[in-house]
Amino acid sequence: MRPHPPGAARGLTAAAATVALVLTCTDAAVADPRPGVANAPQPGVAAGAPSDPPPAGRVDNPYAGAEGYVNPEWKALAEAEPGGHRVSGNPTAVWLDRIAAIEGTATRRGLRAHLDAAVAQGAGYAQFVIYNLPGRDCSALASNGELGVDDLPRYRTEYIDPIAAIQADPKYRGLRIVNIVEIDSLPNLVTNTNVATCATMKQNGGYVQGIGYALRRLGAIPNVYNYLDAAHHGWIGWDSNFGPSADVMLEAARASGDVRTVHGFITNTANYSALTEPYFTVTTTVNGTSVRQSRWVDWNNYVDELSFAQAFRRKLVSVGFDPGIGMLIDTSRNGWGGPARPTAASTSTDVGTFVDQSRTDRRLHTGNWCNQDGAGLGERPRTAPAPDVDAYVWVKPPGESDGSSTAIPNDEGKGFDRMCDPAYQGNDRNGHHPTGALSGAPISGAWFPAQFRQLMANAYPPLP
Ligand code: GLC
Repeated sequence: MRPHPPGAARGLTAAAATVALVLTCTDAAVADPRPGVANAPQPGVAAGAPSDPPPAGRVDNPYAGAEGYVNPEWKALAEAEPGGHRVSGNPTAVWLDRIAAIEGTATRRGLRAHLDAAVAQGAGYAQFVIYNLPGRDCSALASNGELGVDDLPRYRTEYIDPIAAIQADPKYRGLRIVNIVEIDSLPNLVTNTNVATCATMKQNGGYVQGIGYALRRLGAIPNVYNYLDAAHHGWIGWDSNFGPSADVMLEAARASGDVRTVHGFITNTANYSALTEPYFTVTTTVNGTSVRQSRWVDWNNYVDELSFAQAFRRKLVSVGFDPGIGMLIDTSRNGWGGPARPTAASTSTDVGTFVDQSRTDRRLHTGNWCNQDGAGLGERPRTAPAPDVDAYVWVKPPGESDGSSTAIPNDEGKGFDRMCDPAYQGNDRNGHHPTGALSGAPISGAWFPAQFRQLMANAYPPLP
């Protein structure tokens, strides 16, 4: 996942996808049956105004005052590694990455079993990743899925409908169900239409309509909170793709029938972009030259994820999203601690050297996304850590691979992407840099102990 082409992206001026959408909206929002939970707008707020609370009495921040569901399967994997108990109590998301994941497989429990476990834990929220679009991961190979480019009907009936049926079960009404909706999809319609599968998904409307359907069905459940994926600064932080990405997200939300089916957005899902760069900002100049001119920043408008998430939120509201939307940032693997972490700003007067010596993100290029060598666990999940941010979350379960370093046959539709091969020297989408990927990695989603150990060793903030 997480392929993106900064250089290529700058060249693209494509407007948002203009796929015509026809979704019939038959499901009215379901009334909240809990006693005392009213569906009426707040006093003093005109009905229908954009600042109305979403229907059915959702809370503004589902993470507030609530404990997160700890996936016992991830917990056990983490605790099997030396020192893993230091982090194993953190909530991580459950990825519904194929139809079979809904009912569960031999090794992983299904959605209902997770929800039952969350209730038994006394959790206040549980997090799921909705991730099975037709033509999934169109610009990369490591997380290709089971549905073909024309499988939108199956996506609706065999994937979203069963998930909606389970999440709507009244016995889960007391739980806030957070859905992370379709990572790595819509921005590909903006930046990667030079890749055949992405061009097809733009042309056939499969992503926009699929997401519209998911938002509508899941958003009709009163205790469900949909957070739509918004890539990361190293993908859509350029002028050429920032606005167009917001536009295509609005198009998908409108396809749901009501933009308020989107409760918020998440950035950096399964990526490695540093949360904040402590030693420079996008306005820093070196010897009169902007850091934007460095090879690393490469004219991006953002140098870290928090500044990007806050600015992208403003953009989203300006194009038509509800002003109440909140952001999540996946901090599972963007810590960049350990011995290679700079401890002060560089004193170099050369802008490129200054940035390379000052940045905490030690990747070889922001376009590198697979099993990054040197990464660490980031901020532990926490609520309302910064303005406009609902929570830092661990959506990518640390220790689960991004993709195999060599081709490995599998029955999940996953391909071999050379961005996961440590020997590969890169392509024009990562500025022809080496991939920086760890060797010995299993297919995406599989447990990768060596990576988990390195993530703990390089955690930032450091582990006790
Ligand atoms: C990747 C995989 C998916 C897995 C997820 C979380 O995207 O394709 O199968 O569940 O990562 O590790």
